[in-house]
Amino acid sequence: MNIIPVKNYQDMSRKAAEIVSETINTMDKPVLGLATGSTPEGLYQCLINEHKEGNISFRHVTTFNLDEYVGLHGSDPNSYRYYMYDKLFRHIDIELENTYVPNGVAEDLEKECTSYENLIQEHASIDLQILGIGLNGHIGFNEPGTSFTSRTHIVELDEITRQANARFFKSLDDVPTQAITTGIGTIMESKKIILLISGENKAETVARLVNGEISETFPASILNEHSNVTIIADVASLSKLSK
Ligand code: F6R
Repeated sequence: MNIIPVKNYQDMSRKAAEIVSETINTMDKPVLGLATGSTPEGLYQCLINEHKEGNISFRHVTTFNLDEYVGLHGSDPNSYRYYMYDKLFRHIDIELENTYVPNGVAEDLEKECTSYENLIQEHASIDLQILGIGLNGHIGFNEPGTSFTSRTHIVELDEITRQANARFFKSLDDVPTQAITTGIGTIMESKKIILLISGENKAETVARLVNGEISETFPASILNEHSNVTIIADVASLSKLSK
């Protein structure tokens, strides 16, 4: 894994935006894998700015989000469909029908997982996948213990994940207990991956990712076996890395 150390959150977001913009500007029909959460918000703001300045168009871009909460409709402000619309899609010229997020209120959730996975395969995999990382090493919502060969599936969210995400909800009780996530096998098929990490609270996580063993108990560790992963991490998150 290639690590790009940056000063702070702002620089992480700018560097990631450079890579995403280059992909969009040099490919005919780029397929992007998108993440939600706090980490990529700055990246999305940079992309919006680039678009407003006329440097980038999303008309030819297709996106697949990593995950969605089970039980939240796309109109719910805490759903990831809503997040994407609010923080990126409504500010740019992307065709909404080319933006995919799993449907967390599908009548048949298993079927939804299969169709979502098939849809990604029909697009011949993701060209550039943007990832954040959970404190427990999750990528997407693939919690510790998930098989490295998993495909899009339903997960029970870890307590640590529900607590970390409770800041977006009225109370911990309101945080869904399940989600749909693309699998680790799905993520690993992406041609290129950028993993964004910021903040001192992720320092242990980064240390384990870089220096720890590759194990399903720490899902992101499998990224060590991908041939094209770039970690863009700020100095605070790199503070516990052994030199
Ligand atoms: C979100 C996702 C998660 C987050 C992770 C970190 O779509 O897939 O893996 O990237 O939980 O979240 P933040 O960025 O809020 O620390």
